[in-house]
Amino acid sequence: MSLLTIDGIWKNFHGRGVLRGIDLEVRPHEVVSLIGASGSGKSTLLRCVNLLETVDDGVILLDGEDITDPRVNVDDVRKRLGIVFQAFNLFPHMTVLDNVTLAPRQVHRVAKGEAEEQAHGLLARFGLADKARAYPDQLSGGQQQRVAIIRALATQPRLMLLDEVTSALDPELVLEVLGVIKELKESGMTMILTTHEMGFCRDISDTVCFLDGGVLLEKGPAEQIFTEPENPRTREFLRSVLKSGRL
Ligand SMILES: Nc1ncnc2c1ncn2[C@@H]1O[C@H](COP(=O)(O)OP(=O)(O)OP(=O)(O)O)[C@@H](O)[C@H]1O
Ligand SMILES: [Mg+2]
Repeated sequence: MSLLTIDGIWKNFHGRGVLRGIDLEVRPHEVVSLIGASGSGKSTLLRCVNLLETVDDGVILLDGEDITDPRVNVDDVRKRLGIVFQAFNLFPHMTVLDNVTLAPRQVHRVAKGEAEEQAHGLLARFGLADKARAYPDQLSGGQQQRVAIIRALATQPRLMLLDEVTSALDPELVLEVLGVIKELKESGMTMILTTHEMGFCRDISDTVCFLDGGVLLEKGPAEQIFTEPENPRTREFLRSVLKSGRL
């Protein structure tokens, strides 16, 4: 069964269709990338899955449950999702350890000792064992983003949503964050990510979706989308990306 089913999603802003009939199935352990020009609707789609936006039509099923039903418990849905955005949004007045243990303790009611033990384990796994007591402003951008990913992982989500998690980083810091995402894939995490890093996208994605003006124009295995895209607009997009040196 699909972990996530997006079925005929429409989203309007001020009467303008930003998502126009999106269908997408995500299987357990699958890594799905959303690519497309700025404004094509990638972030909006992730925000609909996370219930930060309500949809105007269509349904989204998470583990078979309709999460677009107005009666759904939003907190309960978000408990099953890990979300990381471009801006890291760590709490500046809290240590790395407190940032990572906050949600497990407060939302999932995990005991302090257990939450901290788990947090130390995650920090060690991603090379940040010595940063537990540091504050966010004592870390590099790449380290902060890794903490943000670890924080999202700490609640053991069913699905990770990653929106442009490397785009605020200097090129040399991008690699360390991409390394973390790669390791997540190897551990079997299901992910939907948006990225402008096409080389990485090709490397990590099982499935790539090309969005254009709120429509999912083309979807397929990464290799196929990057080597023989069928839709002329996909070809045009990849050509322009290639020209700008981002592939
Ligand atoms: N809250 C909002 N109110 C009005 N319009 C919005 C809102 N959020 C997004 N939009 C519009 O919806 C369209 C899709 O935006 P979205 O952020 O999903 O694009 P994107 O594909 O993520 O772009 P980028 O690659 O630049 O991140 C854009 O035209 C944007 O201006
Ligand atoms: Mg976006």
